Amino acid sequence: MRHLMNPLDFSVCELDTLFDLANDIERNPKKYAHACDGKILATCFYEPSTRTRLSFESAMTRLGGRVIGFADQNSSSAAKGESVSDTIRVISCYADICAMRHPKEGAPMVASEKSGIPVINAGDGGHYHPTQTLTDLLTIRSLRGRLDHFTIGLCGDLKFGRTVHSLISALVRYPGIRFLFISPDELRVPDYITEMLKEKGIPYEEVISLEEVMPQLDLLYMTRVQKERFFNEEDYVRLKDFYILDPAKMELAKEDMLVLHPLPRVNEISVEVDDDPRAAYFKQAQYGVYVRMALILTLLELV
Ligand code: NCD
Repeated sequence: MRHLMNPLDFSVCELDTLFDLANDIERNPKKYAHACDGKILATCFYEPSTRTRLSFESAMTRLGGRVIGFADQNSSSAAKGESVSDTIRVISCYADICAMRHPKEGAPMVASEKSGIPVINAGDGGHYHPTQTLTDLLTIRSLRGRLDHFTIGLCGDLKFGRTVHSLISALVRYPGIRFLFISPDELRVPDYITEMLKEKGIPYEEVISLEEVMPQLDLLYMTRVQKERFFNEEDYVRLKDFYILDPAKMELAKEDMLVLHPLPRVNEISVEVDDDPRAAYFKQAQYGVYVRMALILTLLELV
C-alpha cells in the first residue's frame, strides 16, 4: 500500500506517468466516469480549506466514487481528544482512501503508519503540500510542455508557505532550474532549503525587489502571507501587502511568463491581472482536479 506524504514519494518517471494520466482524464473525462464506482474517499480536514478539500471531493465524484469526511476539527472526535492514529484506524473501516490536512507538521505521516488505507497529505502545517505541488507541476508541464530549464521566481511568504517548500523540493530534480526567491527579510525561505540547494549546486538568489527580477522570469509563483502561522498580528499587518502584482509590473515581464498562485489570493495579485493571458492561476485550480483524479486512481491501483 502506498501513501503520498511528500512530493518526492513519486520518482520523476512515476510523475510523468501520473501527469500523462491527468492529461488523458482532461481529454476523455467520460472514459473515467465510473473508474471508482463503489469506492469511498474520506476527507479529514483539521484545518480550513476550500480548494484542496473540494477538489478532492470533486475528483472522487467525477470518478464515480463517493465522499465522506469532516471539514472542521471541532466537529470531529479530535475535539474530544482522539489521536490521528486512532481516527485513521477507524476511518480505514469506512473508506478506501483518505486525504488529510492537519495544522501539525507530520500528523498525516503518523496517521499513515497506523492506516489500513492509502493516506494523502493534503497539507501539514508549514511543512509540505504535495498535491498542490502535483497541481503546480501539471500546470507548468501542460502549458509549457516541460518541467526543466526555467528561471522561477517564488514571491511572498517563503518562510511559512508550505506550497513553496514542496514545489522547490520537487523542482530540484529537473535540470536547468534556477530559483529567484523574492521576499521581505522576515519571510525568507528556511535555511534547510537553501542548504539543500547549496549541497546540490542548484543556482538561487534571494532578493527583495520583484520589479528588479521580473524581466528574467519564465514562471512567477505568487503566494499569500500565511496569516494563521504568524505569532503576532502586528507583523502580519506590516507584511501582508508587501507585494502586489499589478499590470504595471506585468509590463516588465516576458511575453510568455506564467503567473501561478496556489490560491486563495488576498491582495497579492490585483484583479486586473486576471485577464492577462499569462495569468494561469484559475487554470491551475482546474488542473488540481485532474491531477487528484489521477492520484486517486494510482493509489487505489485502478490503472
Ligand atoms: C494553500 C495552502 O493551503 O497551503 N492553499 C491551497 O491548498 N491551494 C496556499 C495558502 O493557503 O496560501
